[in-house]
Amino acid sequence: MTLSGNSPKILVTGGAGFIGSHTVVSLVNAGFEPVIIDDFSNSERSALDGLRAILGRDVTCYPVNCNDAEIMADIFRKEAPIGVIHFAANKAVGESVAKPLKYYRNNLDPLMLLLELMPQFSVQNFVFSSSCTVYGQPAQLPVTEETPRLPAQSPYGNTKAIGEDIIRDAIAAQIPVKALALRYFNPIGAHPSAEIGELPLGVPANLVPFITQTAAGIRPSLTVYGDDYNTPDGTCIRDYIDVGDLADAHVQALKKLIEAPAGASYDVINIGTGRGETVLNVIRTFEEATGVKVNYVIGPRRAGDVEQVYADVTKANRVLEWSARRSLAESLRDAWNWQKKLI
Ligand code: WQD
Repeated sequence: MTLSGNSPKILVTGGAGFIGSHTVVSLVNAGFEPVIIDDFSNSERSALDGLRAILGRDVTCYPVNCNDAEIMADIFRKEAPIGVIHFAANKAVGESVAKPLKYYRNNLDPLMLLLELMPQFSVQNFVFSSSCTVYGQPAQLPVTEETPRLPAQSPYGNTKAIGEDIIRDAIAAQIPVKALALRYFNPIGAHPSAEIGELPLGVPANLVPFITQTAAGIRPSLTVYGDDYNTPDGTCIRDYIDVGDLADAHVQALKKLIEAPAGASYDVINIGTGRGETVLNVIRTFEEATGVKVNYVIGPRRAGDVEQVYADVTKANRVLEWSARRSLAESLRDAWNWQKKLI
């Protein structure tokens, strides 16, 4: 798909990453021109090849760290974007416990720089990548945006909560930016073309890449972290959201921001399916969807895991006019097709 030279430009920090690259595809499909900013510290340049294969054209990419004020100001000046979607951040929960200062530096400094630069270059529309991790183990389920945030279980989770507060306070000080923080639940899947997907660098921490690597024989078996929770089959419950649906939610959020009157505004929105799935059901659904068996053993609980969390998506449906469309089976099939491409 080609774009006319005057398609509105959107800066996408972390645009070569898992969710970022899928959002780049959705942006192009919606008539925007994405401009990627990614230093490839937690992504691979091969994502750009995948994007070219899907889109039939190159996407502008600045291989820089979005924490460099001079470089970022030059990009704003040259590209004159109408919006920013900020994905770039470190997101490994375990690593954040071992290296908290890296997480506070990397996840918060670039955010504050963007909030300083956007008013300077009259960029009014901002979408921030947040996470359901801010809810901790909620007292009520499904979680709504009014569910109280609980103290973070990790420095990573804390950077998301603090990031939301930084945006909230900057908007309260009337910087002329309209901002939405999207609280993702558990992103899974890959583009149906298998040209882009989740690149777990190293041993995957997350469930679905571990399932696909086990199915591919890369890992001898999957350990299910505990089956003695107070859930139907004893395993934890999560809200697994297809990465393509999640990408579309970002485009909807951007469109609604662009349509809104100019000024300073901030809101948070849950992005999930609204359905909770147990770990064992994800495994079973993967096996049924792909015909491939997954070797797994039941192991001890993982420290820091919440028992169950899934979204109330009423607000996303109403405010964004968006809802998740892809089924768990479709997402797992796409994840498996992507894994087979990687082998
Ligand atoms: C899901 C379920 C595990 C691996 C984290 C972050 C969150 C977001 C998504 C960034 C849990 C179980 C997992 C395994 C298992 N990250 N599991 N065996 O912990 O819900 O969320 O990743 O934005 O912010 O907190 O996702 O995929 O790690 O775990 O049994 O080998 O699968 O116990 O119940 P999680 P996850």
